Amino acid sequence: MGTSGSGKTTLLHLTSGLERPTEGEVYIGNLALSRIKEKQMAVFRRKYIGFIFQSFNLTTNLTALENVTMPLVFDGVPLKEREKRAKKVLLDLGLGARLNNKPTELSGGQQQRVCIARALINNPQILFADEPTGNLDTRTSAEILKLLMTATREQQRTLIIVTHDRDVAAQADRVVEMSDGRIEKITVREELA
Ligand SMILES: Nc1ncnc2c1ncn2[C@@H]1O[C@H](COP(=O)(O)OP(=O)(O)OP(=O)(O)O)[C@@H](O)[C@H]1O
Ligand SMILES: [Mg+2]
Repeated sequence: MGTSGSGKTTLLHLTSGLERPTEGEVYIGNLALSRIKEKQMAVFRRKYIGFIFQSFNLTTNLTALENVTMPLVFDGVPLKEREKRAKKVLLDLGLGARLNNKPTELSGGQQQRVCIARALINNPQILFADEPTGNLDTRTSAEILKLLMTATREQQRTLIIVTHDRDVAAQADRVVEMSDGRIEKITVREELA
């Protein structure tokens, strides 16, 4: 959490390998993420990381199904298998009737669910979500958060989420507060501490 401009997105980009630090190191487990080559980085990200952007970032001329199958193309998964896996994830997220619709034909909540499906298709261990409900109404936000929580708790993933919502933060194991580009405070949930 932190005010606008405090560095939340920057921290998410650094820890997920979308950007490289100008100083210091980024480690995920024993891996020095900030030191590996671009090509390895792409492989690492595809294998272990899912990223959900605040602004959806869907490809506008592709259908929901095609958007979700996209990450698998780079892994060389055959078309039939790609579609089978993408359909299952989209179905699980309640988008079975919207497989062939393009982003402009979907509501904000539906677009965000396509993004979640795209982030989950590789079965990532770490899910990064940058204000995933920033553009959604209260009810849709609650639905999206529930989906993210299920994807995390039930499937034993790590979720790193940027939020302005105290109720969302209250469900986290750790809350990192940022201000002026620095981490000000890390609060660990009582039972973990
Ligand atoms: N690529 C960049 N190069 C240089 N400075 C940047 C870059 N991206 C962001 N900044 C600056 O870094 C600071 C932190 O930006 P960041 O986007 O991480 O904030 P944020 O906490 O995510 O804000 P918001 O809540 O508005 O999304 C800001 O002052 C911003 O202008
Ligand atoms: Mg941001």
